[in-house]
Amino acid sequence: MPHLLYEADQRLWLLSTATTCYAIRLDEHDVVRHVHWGAPLTLDQARVLTERIPSPGSSFDSAGGPEELAVEGGARFGPAGLQVRFANGTRGVEWRFAGHDLEDATLRVHLADRHYPLRLTLHYRLHDDSDVIERWATVENHDDRHPVTVQRCDSASWTLPQRAGYRVSHLVGGWNSEFQLRRADVPVAETVFTSRRGMTSHHANPWLALDDGTAAEEHGEVWSTALAWSGSWRITLHRDPTGRAGWTGGFGHEGLTWTLTPGQSLETPVFAGLYSAGGFGGASRAWHGYVRGHVLSHPDEVRPVLYNSWEATGFDVDEPGQRNLAARAARLGVELFVVDDGWFGGRVSDHSGLGDWTPNPDRFPHGLRPLADEVHRLGMGFGLWVEPEMVNPDSDLYRAHPDWVLHMAHRGRTELRHQLVLNLARPDTAAWAHAWLDRLVTANHIDFLKWDANRSMTEAGWPGHADPDRVWIEQTRAVHRIMDRLRADHPDLRIEACAGGGGRADLAVLTRTDQVWTSDNTDPVDRIGIQHGFGQLFPAQVMGAWVTDSPNVATARRTPLRFRFHVAMAGALGIGGDLATWSEDELKEATGLIATYKRIRPVVQHGAAYRLAGAGTLTAVEFTYRDEVVVLAWCPTRAFGHDPGPLRLTALDPAARYRDRDTGALHSGAVLLHAGLPLALPEGEHASTLVHLTRIED
Ligand code: DGJ
Repeated sequence: MPHLLYEADQRLWLLSTATTCYAIRLDEHDVVRHVHWGAPLTLDQARVLTERIPSPGSSFDSAGGPEELAVEGGARFGPAGLQVRFANGTRGVEWRFAGHDLEDATLRVHLADRHYPLRLTLHYRLHDDSDVIERWATVENHDDRHPVTVQRCDSASWTLPQRAGYRVSHLVGGWNSEFQLRRADVPVAETVFTSRRGMTSHHANPWLALDDGTAAEEHGEVWSTALAWSGSWRITLHRDPTGRAGWTGGFGHEGLTWTLTPGQSLETPVFAGLYSAGGFGGASRAWHGYVRGHVLSHPDEVRPVLYNSWEATGFDVDEPGQRNLAARAARLGVELFVVDDGWFGGRVSDHSGLGDWTPNPDRFPHGLRPLADEVHRLGMGFGLWVEPEMVNPDSDLYRAHPDWVLHMAHRGRTELRHQLVLNLARPDTAAWAHAWLDRLVTANHIDFLKWDANRSMTEAGWPGHADPDRVWIEQTRAVHRIMDRLRADHPDLRIEACAGGGGRADLAVLTRTDQVWTSDNTDPVDRIGIQHGFGQLFPAQVMGAWVTDSPNVATARRTPLRFRFHVAMAGALGIGGDLATWSEDELKEATGLIATYKRIRPVVQHGAAYRLAGAGTLTAVEFTYRDEVVVLAWCPTRAFGHDPGPLRLTALDPAARYRDRDTGALHSGAVLLHAGLPLALPEGEHASTLVHLTRIED
């Protein structure tokens, strides 16, 4: 059970999660200082730490130690998580403690400015089955006459204990190359991780992990955080010359302001933090547990094997073609058939039609319902692609409502992929988007929406609005609200979050969706790296992974069908190839592999994931669930023709024996742990294998 304690003498709070501990205190100026984040401590032990107040090095340095939300004001020279300007030009804050509440595993610390009627609440929420601490902040303007300008309001600042070295792990990339894990020493500097795109972004993900330079996959201390936000964001990591490191982060990018009129308040998104003593793998498994337990709405449901037509047909979508693909998909064992872009309005390419959400009469003369009925008759769910936030200027919607897009007076309207972004912060635009989505889902018995968004925000203005920068935040909130409302009204509807692949993968979007389209890059060799990065934070069940054609459309690489399957089987399996061109042999092999996936699916989707590395380019993921173990191993190349040799497994009982479900071979746990599992890899490049073991009760 988590517990929260307050020690009045020292003005110290101790927050204990399942296996970790977090402590904060109020100093003599009522500033909330960081005390500890890491291994469990008793109240007495934490009390000792409150006495270790770092002294300022000189009159040029900040004093008092790290703060829970690093504000601007006084002798503070680091990155500020809260920056405000009052109507008379005063900047910064001076705090007075205004009380705290401890209830339902939540701590709220209330602060008020000593002069101006501005209040701040720091929120901390714990869960009994997780070490993740959820933090956020609320700022309120209690002045009855004057506005306050908020220039920055982060969700939280995080501080690490002093260590000799610090290393940061983070995710970088771009379209077609998302979630590339980078690990680097933290410079003595301020390092900014950000998205200014109005979207979580392909380029950086608001997750990062710090360690002291010695952590590895299965050992070492790791401090990691993830921001639950799907719009622009900024996290500033700083390390000072005396060796302290910490970071502050929240929504919005630099330069945006928010006016709080009298009585208004601003609540930030959750910034979740996790300390793990079990290395990067331990941290990932703890995050996966948190996502399953506290983010996803349907964590126990298995994700269906889906078929998506995008790589097969591009925009050439019509009823006969989709019926043909659906019939083939059903024969393979597919459970959900998703029609992608091109079914509506004048959408025959990316130049036109976005915004006109009625079926194209040339392509679907009787609407979508006959196809949806046929897909259901074939025993599959029916899914449809939508891109509700976007509009092509060449559309009836834009011709009727040119003012509905984000724009600024006397500025161009930059088109990306020939499209503009609708201002869904406008109540009329949001109501329109909700209404057509609701109608579409109802009329066509839609089971699944692939919700796409194919461009970043530019010229994000709202002419005439008194506080135009707000649109950067309100746009994201509006998208979340529409998703929430649709799901509330259609409890069986499932949603896939997509933004040109993995441009919108975050804890906030996963609160209202069920899986993520990980990347438009479906090349299995590239996917190994993409999946490795994605899995740092997110569990396999939310990682959409398709098997597509060879050569791959993005990379022209040729790979065996089995290799493509084995890579995709480490996530929520989908098929995205042109089934009309697959040979009988390929269709037969695919049918068998889909059946195998359904057998291992509970282990992959609900199990604990262990990333393994063998010799050469051999990597693998081991999933364990109850008495079952699944290993998916991939060896893209064999330098010098060397065989990678046995793969050492982990997290098994050394005293137990394990039976291979396919060959019947028996293995001892101790041998698998210490000498490894011999892999039956086919000869040559792009070799892969799947091993499914069951623990035997002797
Ligand atoms: C980008 C998505 O990631 C693709 O899978 C596909 O849906 C296209 N958009 C359609 O325009």
